This record gives sequence, structure tokens and C-alpha cells, in this order.
Amino acid sequence: MTDANLYETLRWDAPRDADAADELKCGRLVLIDQTLLPTEFTHVECRTPEEVWRAIKRLVVRGAPAIGIAAAYGVCLGIQPLFADGKTPTRNELLEAVEKTAAYLATSRPTAVNLFWALDRMKARAAASGVSADETAAALMAEAKTIHDEDRGLCRRIGRFGASLVKDGDALLTHCNAGALATADYGTALGVFYAAREAGKKIRVYADETRPLLQGARLTAWELAARGIDVTLICDSMAAMLMRQKKIDAVFVGADRIAANGDVANKIGTYSVAVNARAHGIPFYVAAPFSTFDLTLSDGNQIPIEERDPEEIRRGFGKRTAPDGVKIYNPAFDVTPAELVSGIVTEKGIVSPVTAGQIARLFEK
Ligand code: MRU
Repeated sequence: MTDANLYETLRWDAPRDADAADELKCGRLVLIDQTLLPTEFTHVECRTPEEVWRAIKRLVVRGAPAIGIAAAYGVCLGIQPLFADGKTPTRNELLEAVEKTAAYLATSRPTAVNLFWALDRMKARAAASGVSADETAAALMAEAKTIHDEDRGLCRRIGRFGASLVKDGDALLTHCNAGALATADYGTALGVFYAAREAGKKIRVYADETRPLLQGARLTAWELAARGIDVTLICDSMAAMLMRQKKIDAVFVGADRIAANGDVANKIGTYSVAVNARAHGIPFYVAAPFSTFDLTLSDGNQIPIEERDPEEIRRGFGKRTAPDGVKIYNPAFDVTPAELVSGIVTEKGIVSPVTAGQIARLFEK
């Protein structure tokens, strides 16, 4: 493993000597349990689509690309029972199970478009696969692994493009966790930091703690420290003051869905960071793969925003911090308008200025 890949966020576990079809028939998905970090480093095993659904919903696995990869393996788990006790399903039975499992997993979380993108790829691969049940099983296993492997490569390309925007000695701010834990193993926004360091640049990172679920404190601070990056944790409300004190040179964040005009949905609080960055003349960059763009949506108003359990705010991490009956509003994401985004760093280059035309041109490449 490289140093940005100390732990495997997700792993398909199957006997070493199994062929692709057998890998699907007897494998299981193993995830780092991100709900327990940083105090416990432990894994969760998923053997059914229901377990994958719960893992996505509970944020055992989270971050747009990682959710997509988990869902792809979840489809493999959905057809596993059809092969139980040496049975051979018909093609129709297999395709039905793929559709049913994909439709079910699609209900786990609404905002990260990578989830739906990965499920669509699995459905398309099943439809195009050979006629025998084993051919379809092998094709689905291969597709899930390809989605997983591709993410490793494209995160590194995003990292290299993004590193060109970072100067030696820069202090960088990030929000939530768009790192190795949110992807196959390297990250998008944090991948930029790893690539800058690999290019010999000295950087310092400020991590917003990211209320209410503290992905910045629990995951980003942990991940960056584990990889030897100089990281300082701050409360979300401190970022504006640091900007005013000229302690931040640039902001890099990830994304859950980007509309055709460049409006970006990301973790709640990202919009405030972007507004503050604009007010202080600091560049605000988004790092995300093509799979995070949703060109079917003309702007960010159409992006579905997940609302989560009020208890995450009323009783965060088990301790009540608000009156029992108080009304609570808990959107998990917000939308940053394209005009506040200085550039979107993708695996194929940097979109800047962020306009519908520039995005369309990059997709045509
Ligand atoms: O609710 P989460 O933890 O899944 O939210 C994650 C984010 O908002 C990330 O910034 C985004 O998914 C990009 S991950 C490369």
C-alpha cells in the first residue's frame, strides 16, 4: 500500500483461487466502520444487500465515490442467493434480481449521484453480459471491481491536477471528509493534498470539524494525521476568522453532486465556507470525478438534499445537547452556486471558470 492508502475503505473478500463467477458467489463486502473512528478501528462485514443498505444509511461507509463502490458490490450480494446450494438461475431471474437490488439500494441515500451512477453501470453490465448465469455473475463481479479500481486511478489524476493549484507553503482549508475514507483509497480534495506533498510542496491543512456528524474531526483529522500531513482542527464557525487573519490560502472540498451549470452539492456548511472564501478573496476549489456530475440537472436547485434524523443534532453521539421537544432541521448537504466556485478539479482537468459551457466541453473531450 502507498502511504495515502494505509487502510482499505472497502474490500471484496473472496477465496484467492476463486474465478470471477465464484468470487461473486462466495464473497462478502468488508468495510471500515467509519461511525466508530477515531476511537475504534474496526470492520463491518456485509453479506446481504440489506446490510449494505444499512451501512450506507448509517454512514459506516460514506462519501460519494465510496457509496457508489459499496452499492456496486451490494448488487453482487443481491444475486448471490440465486446460486445457493449449487443452483443455476435463469437469465431472467438474474436480471430481475439485479434490477430489484439496484432499486432497493437506490433508496439508501438521495444526494450523492455516484450511488445511482454505479447502480446504472451494474444494470447495464448485466444486460450486456453473456447468456449463461456464470457469465453474468463474472461480468457483474468484474464491473464492481472495475468501478472500485477506476476510482483509485482517477483520484490520483484529480490529485495531480489539483496539486498544480497549490503553492509550496500554502495553508489549505477543507470541510467534511473527501479523503481516502470517502473513496477507494486516496481521496479527491484530500488527494490534492497528498499529491501536493508527493510533489515536494510543504502544506498545512485546517480541517473544519463539520457539524453535526463531525466527519472533519473524526475522519479528516484522523486520516491526515495518520499520513503525516500537518493538520489543525477547527470548529466550523472559526473558518471566517482564520480567513480574515490571512491564515488560509485556498479551500478544497469534495462534492456529492454537481449540476450541469456547476452548482455543487456537498456536506452542509460548504456553502458558508464558499461565501466566506469569496468575501476574503480566497480561491474555493471543488475536487470531484466525472461520476459526481449530474448533467440531467440544469442547476443545483434540482439536487435532492437528504434530511437526516433530528436526533443527530438533539442527541449527537449519545449525549443530549438540546431540549427534548425542540424543533430541529437537519439537512445533510447544501448547494454552493457555481459563481462561488473558482474551479472544479476532475480526472480530466480543471474546469475554470465554472460555467455550463466549460463543463460541457470537458465532457466532450
Ligand atoms: O454524509 P457524508 O459523510 O457521506 O458526506 C460526504 C461529503 O459531503 C463529501 O465531501 C463528498 O461525498 C465527497 S467525498 C470524495
